[in-house]
Amino acid sequence: MKTVRDLKVKGQVVFVRCDFNVPLKEGEIRDDNRIVAALPTIKDLMEKGAKVVLMSHLGKIDHKDPEKCEQDKKKNNMAVVAKRLSELLGQKILFCPATRGEELKKAIYSLQDGSVMLMQNTRYEKGESKNDPELSKEWASYADAFVMDAFGSAHRAHASTYGIPEILKSEGKQTAIGYLVEKEVNALKKVVDVEKEARPYVAILGGFKVSDKIKVIERLMEKCDKILIGGAMAYTFNKALGHNIGTSPFEEDQLEFAKNCYERAQGRIVLPVDCVVADDFDNPTQIKVTENCDIPEGFMGMDVGPKTRELYVKEIKKAKTLFWNGPVGVFEKEQFTEGTITVCKACAELENVFTCIGGGDSAAAVKQFGYSDAFSHISTGGGASLEMIENDGHLPGIDVIGD
Ligand code: 3PG
Repeated sequence: MKTVRDLKVKGQVVFVRCDFNVPLKEGEIRDDNRIVAALPTIKDLMEKGAKVVLMSHLGKIDHKDPEKCEQDKKKNNMAVVAKRLSELLGQKILFCPATRGEELKKAIYSLQDGSVMLMQNTRYEKGESKNDPELSKEWASYADAFVMDAFGSAHRAHASTYGIPEILKSEGKQTAIGYLVEKEVNALKKVVDVEKEARPYVAILGGFKVSDKIKVIERLMEKCDKILIGGAMAYTFNKALGHNIGTSPFEEDQLEFAKNCYERAQGRIVLPVDCVVADDFDNPTQIKVTENCDIPEGFMGMDVGPKTRELYVKEIKKAKTLFWNGPVGVFEKEQFTEGTITVCKACAELENVFTCIGGGDSAAAVKQFGYSDAFSHISTGGGASLEMIENDGHLPGIDVIGD
């Protein structure tokens, strides 16, 4: 696949789709990892003398309700990213508050060779998420070349991730992937197709909903030797198998799937055998450890228990390839961090094993507990890395770039 390395773009307008969808708190960036990860591509294009136009979405914008739309726009203004990017690049970049029309065009045409501009949030445009052909056409009309470096958004076939490169390619213009996407694809390939010598392949899946992960569970059942299931998702499985789960959350409409899936897995799915439970999610006054996977009435599961932790460690130790998506407990609360920390530690102790974190909350957890350096790869895309596994290595925003 053509990468930014191969591009000859001196004096050309190069659109770069980044994923600057960073977590914000009270208007401040909480984690700038995704911005830092985009720097190699941006710097390379600057050195090549391109006129670099960066674009990304930030958060979600509700276009159905005008009042909410205005609030969302205010909350998800890309200006905060432009500021951080200027700091990281050590030079002020241009921020264009417009997403179409004369103002955008003027800003792009004012760029000098080797300079950088960031456009306002692509989702300010209603047509972005619908891959609106008119919008794609307008954006593509300003670009001489396109670089896809938004791995975290590559599972979205939107105007900025799909529409623009599709048009540019049909016009014979240059399209390529950036360094971040190249790194992600090379790493994730190793958990999509796992050779015999890289087995056992162990996956750890946590998080809230079974329904969000059905497709990936199905795929991992074909690919993995063991799947450790934790987090709130595990309660749907345990309930489906006839256990008491107290007041733990579960999905009624997924019980059938969970039971069927567990049976088909023939011992390859490992569920919690004990739990740390509490009487209330927000303000627990009673916390205890259950004897087995049955949770008493009035209590809800918050983390995996000590026997489960031991079981997890035993399985993790056997792994030669490991993929982890989703924390196994409510790690944001101090009393329920033990399960997730145990997984971090066990993975960190592995030697010569490819360990990959599939973005999202598990990436935040390893960072919080200081284990970021212990993993072979931490993906910048939660949804994208899961879809990459589901679709056997394919994502629309990368496939459209072509060879
Ligand atoms: C992500 O954070 O997973 C990506 O930026 C995609 O965001 P989205 O789910 O809002 O499309």
